[in-house]
Amino acid sequence: MTRQLLATKPLAMLLAEMKGENRLRRILGPIQLSSLGIGAIIGTGIFVLTGKAAHDNAGPALILSFVVSGIACVFAALCYAEFASMVPVAGSAYTYAYATMGELFAWIIGWDLVLEYTVVSATVAHGWSHYFQDFIGIFGYHVPHGMTRAPFDYDPGVGRIISTGTTLDLPAIMITLVITAILVKGIRESASFNATMVGIKLVIVFFVIIVGAFYVNPANWHPFAPFGFTGVSFFGKTVLGQSDAGGQPLGMLAGAAIIFFAYIGFDSVSTHAEEARHPHRDVPIGIISSLLVCTVLYIAVSAILTGMVPYDKIDIDAPVSNAFKQVGLPWAQLLVSLGALTGITSVLLVMMLSQPRVLLAIARDGLLPPSVFGAVHPRFRTPWKSTILTGIVVAILGAFLPLRILAELTNIGTLLAFVIVCISVLIMRYTNPNAERPFKAPFGIVVPILGIAFCLLLMFSLPGQNWLRLFVWLLIGFVIYFGYGRHHSVLAELRASESVTERMPALADPPDGPVAR
Ligand code: ALA
Repeated sequence: MTRQLLATKPLAMLLAEMKGENRLRRILGPIQLSSLGIGAIIGTGIFVLTGKAAHDNAGPALILSFVVSGIACVFAALCYAEFASMVPVAGSAYTYAYATMGELFAWIIGWDLVLEYTVVSATVAHGWSHYFQDFIGIFGYHVPHGMTRAPFDYDPGVGRIISTGTTLDLPAIMITLVITAILVKGIRESASFNATMVGIKLVIVFFVIIVGAFYVNPANWHPFAPFGFTGVSFFGKTVLGQSDAGGQPLGMLAGAAIIFFAYIGFDSVSTHAEEARHPHRDVPIGIISSLLVCTVLYIAVSAILTGMVPYDKIDIDAPVSNAFKQVGLPWAQLLVSLGALTGITSVLLVMMLSQPRVLLAIARDGLLPPSVFGAVHPRFRTPWKSTILTGIVVAILGAFLPLRILAELTNIGTLLAFVIVCISVLIMRYTNPNAERPFKAPFGIVVPILGIAFCLLLMFSLPGQNWLRLFVWLLIGFVIYFGYGRHHSVLAELRASESVTERMPALADPPDGPVAR
């Protein structure tokens, strides 16, 4: 059994599989891929979570939080880019782990990606709901109170979960269902829809930076770090910096761990490798360029926001549009609200586009039922059944769980995925040193090692209970793997009937790994 758990998928086999039937359409170029990246990145993180992070965790030092989180992501992005250029198949980190660390690890990371994409989507749907309510509020309309947000939330002031007096978040459900319908129809429509929305949100972000700059009062940047520059806990015990009433870490690093959410999404470009026209070149370009653009914009937006409004007056539901209201520009509030809504919609679109593609990759390997997760629609060529299933789960999570808890859970899961990708790059460098790497992360092993270190630091800067939630999630994953995946693994079946090498000699990797196509 250990042999099966550690069985790795030969790289050449992955590449050969790409030529088979049931493939997705190859229609995406570098601009569309970068646009999908930006589409996935700029959203609830910058438009909503900055408010909570500045108000409750970091103060104006949020600007540095964005720098630290951005650095962690750049290291991880370089590792993703290296892998994506080597193995440009759908499945992202899941596939990379299958090629390096074996089936069990691959499953763990795949399950972890489910956490990332599905829970991120639910978080983003919440963010959309906040701006939707802000937007219709400008015209005097309101969603009935009982349907405005999740029924409970964490209150840092009292340090525990409290009831919000509501039942569910109706706008979050509505937007999720609309996006699901669009995604079932197809990637081409989705990509152009996305490009338009990305254009709008970039204009709004530039608007915030340029117009907001005229309303910055430098006095608002003092004190710069009211909660300190650290905020690190070790499984629930704060070891560096201050904590809130509930013992959760406060400070610049704690802020970085929360707004890390704002960067999530560049990795989703790698899940579209199978739909890229020149994946070896364009996927690394898409990953790195989208991240760099967003890092610069985020640092600028956080500086402007904390400069426009004293950190303790920043609104926690719709902070960016509200800042314009506070400086006396209601028309700008309207514009920003509309832009944020559009921007957040595009994040939801890309995230919900990525999830079924990861599930598809897992199902092709037999670790999930292919009849549901492997089904590609005969006409639309989209993984329609898992898209619908994803939509239903996202709607339920978005309706009932609070934003902050969803965001933290997403962050810890995504950071774990980044750590595993960085480790996989190290392993691959060792096991397949001469394999063709159209893109290679620079400075030898420094980048993956720093990637691991930074991501672990951020994981420990999150409130401790997230580790527990992550373990519970992984435990559920183990149950599914040992109950289903292990008995249906395609790789295991191949190995059992004959060895992979005997049966498919052309697919076996030479010691130095796969050879160019
Ligand atoms: N980075 C994405 C957002 O902020 C997930 O919405």
